[in-house]
Amino acid sequence: QPSAEDIRELLGRHLHLEGPLLPILHDIQNSFGFVPQTAVPVIAEALNLSVAEVTGVIGFYHDFRKAPAGRHVLKLCRAEACQSMGSEVLAARILSLLGVDWHGTTTDGRITVEPVYCLGLCACAPAAMLDGRVHGALTEARAQRLVEALA
Ligand code: FES
Repeated sequence: QPSAEDIRELLGRHLHLEGPLLPILHDIQNSFGFVPQTAVPVIAEALNLSVAEVTGVIGFYHDFRKAPAGRHVLKLCRAEACQSMGSEVLAARILSLLGVDWHGTTTDGRITVEPVYCLGLCACAPAAMLDGRVHGALTEARAQRLVEALA
């Protein structure tokens, strides 16, 4: 968990920018793997925004994590082409198999499941990305095998 001091130091690199909020949030996520709740008031104060405004921006962008991710990250596409190929049913099965909800991490810390909105693999829908590698034409059985192979 980064300290307020860590966050302030990181903020200093972006304050000269016009519209520094998103670069700051990305930098925090890249540095620490998530955007901790404790960072929000520090950012709000530095940028002269309210805590609600900063929280709203973090909530709006699906990429920002509010908690550290598991050892592996599975992103399931929820955009239109994948939906038309049954991605929602598939996602519901995978989530239930792992016992998590969207953005959730399994209790053993093995895997976090996140939504993504188009991976550019629409022709091979439904698509997913596991630890940065894309997988097309996903079925429940294949997803299960991928997940079970993870350490
Ligand atoms: Fe899922 Fe494009 S809609 S990859």
